[in-house]
Amino acid sequence: MAQLQAVSMTYEPFSKEPEYIECNRAFVERLPLENVDRFLDIACGTGTVSSLLLERFPEAHLNGVDLDPVQIDLSTATWTELGHTVRHGYELTEDYENGKPVIVLGVGSGDDLKFPDETFDCVTIANAIHMLPDMSKFFAEVARVLKPGGVFGFNSGFYAGCNPPGTERHMYQWLREATYYIDKWNERRKAEGKEPIRRQHGTTRSAFQNRWLNPGEWTDHLREQGFDSIDINERTLQMDVRCLQALVAYGGLVEVVMSGYPIEEASIALQSTAPKALELLGRDTLPRHHANTVYDRETLFTEIASIVESMTADWDTSASDGVTNDTRLIADLMFESIDIVQFIVAIEERFHRQDLPFEQLLMVDGRYVEELTIGEVVTFLNEQLAS
Ligand SMILES: C[S@@+](CC[C@H](N)C(=O)[O-])C[C@H]1O[C@@H](n2cnc3c(N)ncnc32)[C@H](O)[C@@H]1O
Repeated sequence: MAQLQAVSMTYEPFSKEPEYIECNRAFVERLPLENVDRFLDIACGTGTVSSLLLERFPEAHLNGVDLDPVQIDLSTATWTELGHTVRHGYELTEDYENGKPVIVLGVGSGDDLKFPDETFDCVTIANAIHMLPDMSKFFAEVARVLKPGGVFGFNSGFYAGCNPPGTERHMYQWLREATYYIDKWNERRKAEGKEPIRRQHGTTRSAFQNRWLNPGEWTDHLREQGFDSIDINERTLQMDVRCLQALVAYGGLVEVVMSGYPIEEASIALQSTAPKALELLGRDTLPRHHANTVYDRETLFTEIASIVESMTADWDTSASDGVTNDTRLIADLMFESIDIVQFIVAIEERFHRQDLPFEQLLMVDGRYVEELTIGEVVTFLNEQLAS
């Protein structure tokens, strides 16, 4: 049996697994990036994916954010080893030291980003999207800090559909084996006159409290935020015994899947029974789908913004400062009915389509809408042009 791994309260043991690194490298390579000045890596953890991003664009600056200060310390160590100067906080630096961009790491949540609007060329969240409790809030924050034309990418092994058929029972069987293991361990401890390992119900959060979304639901959320071109691709990670043991050497996972058990002992039980759980499944490796997902806001938003900007070039409205998805046609740009008609005509000409059902956008319950934002127009076009 593979040797048990030391339990860590950080994700570090698993983040060093070659299969995991390859999976993340494939994700980073798939991001449709040409020039990047500034990355934001949300839930950056120990820095595995952040450093892959800078491998692709060594001159770019990177801000990393993670909820856990311990992960920020580990990520600091990763960057320091790679020869980068690290600062802590939310600064948007342009500095280079020792010929390398200065990295800035901040403690905080991905759904409350302390950055100005339209700051980053690329925003990523790797292996963590399932941990964000409120998807609408999170995606709106990402859309806010991403520059028009920016790319948002995430990968995840926790979503509806991640377990290939025939493997769904693996987790249940593994947890059952781990529980038997603790029961037998307790019998031995009893015989030796020691206290049993006890579970204290309700002391930690239970696993998978956030609903897993499927790729279609991710897409719906993102369309609402004006993301258009979408690329979702699935890759299958093959986890052997060592890889599974590295996964449950992560105390944060053990704490939620074996909630209430002392973490060290629960990790030993899970690691010890990893081979048995695979054997019960009749496999040498556990396949797990990993979705790489990329959203690109560029095309439609840029086209629509340029139409609006050229229409309003001589007007005394806020469009002269540039439009965003939140710009309101009536309240901000003073559009009158005829301007809306001319806007539609310009869109039809730009996209060579006279058949788009703009009435669906303009009328709700038999009456005209009182306001329209650029984001709503982009979302409408996104759906219509795709259909
Ligand atoms: C599984 S690790 C992934 C780390 C890294 N992105 C990677 O791919 O190796 C998940 C990370 O998400 C962080 N995290 C969880 N909830 C978060 C939130 N609301 N905002 C920011 N980070 C969060 C955790 O602290 C942890 O570092």
